[in-house]
Amino acid sequence: MPSIMITGASRGIGLEWARQCAERGWRVYATCRDPFEAGELRRLDEQLDHISMHRLDVTDPAQIATLARGLPTAKIDVLLHNAGVWHDWDATLRIGKLNFDDWEATWQVNVLGAARVTDALVEQVARSDLRLVVGISSDMGCISNITSPGSYAYRATKAGFNAMLHGMSHELRRRQIGVLLLHPGWVKTAMGGESAALSSAESVTGMLERVEAFTMEQTGKLYSYNGRELKW
Ligand SMILES: NC(=O)c1ccc[n+]([C@@H]2O[C@H](COP(=O)([O-])OP(=O)(O)OC[C@H]3O[C@@H](n4cnc5c(N)ncnc54)[C@H](OP(=O)(O)O)[C@@H]3O)[C@@H](O)[C@H]2O)c1
Repeated sequence: MPSIMITGASRGIGLEWARQCAERGWRVYATCRDPFEAGELRRLDEQLDHISMHRLDVTDPAQIATLARGLPTAKIDVLLHNAGVWHDWDATLRIGKLNFDDWEATWQVNVLGAARVTDALVEQVARSDLRLVVGISSDMGCISNITSPGSYAYRATKAGFNAMLHGMSHELRRRQIGVLLLHPGWVKTAMGGESAALSSAESVTGMLERVEAFTMEQTGKLYSYNGRELKW
């Protein structure tokens, strides 16, 4: 059975990835910032086999190094960059009132975090069977989709995330490692809100189908959870 490492598995979309993969019998390395606070993930860990919980704040280089050192011979078939933050959803945050502490924090998680985790764990991916890096992006990072003001930091970091993983796909292709970027749709989570169109279960079911159907012709490209390729 394949294995998956998930960042931000404490709740929302990441937690649902952990649930669906474990239910399919995958080996799940579920990482979260605080295993004691991640009650739902702990319950899942107790109910289902194949899950292990690992402490990981993706902004903390020491924690990333400890995690990688603790898994020296592990095979990670799918490295899933899911952890993300959206601090500037507030429509009053317009030019003249931008909060650059939030910008910095968003960059640290959404872009640098994924870069650091990929850098530290690429060998575990390279020695696996599926050899796939998956990035949970957003259509809000597609410049062709920006038709209204606001969320400048979130949009910029998701565009940067896309550019970074697309670029890495050219290097990783030489090692037969694929890179798949996925937009989960608008999903009912703390980030997506109650009015969102999809449940986490619907979104992750669609995204898992994309992972299972992945071919190297798709490497470096961005797809919606329902299989539609998205323009940058
Ligand atoms: N929901 C949507 O409609 C939607 C749409 C497009 C894209 N996305 C993307 O989907 C991904 C998951 O979003 P979601 O809706 O599930 O959001 P969420 O419910 O707010 O969950 C965010 C997850 O990221 C984790 N996280 C935040 N900062 C972290 C850090 N420094 N290190 C490690 N983990 C960290 C959180 O952990 P804690 O519990 O410790 O805070 C939590 O597990 C994000 O990348 C988001 O941008 C979501």
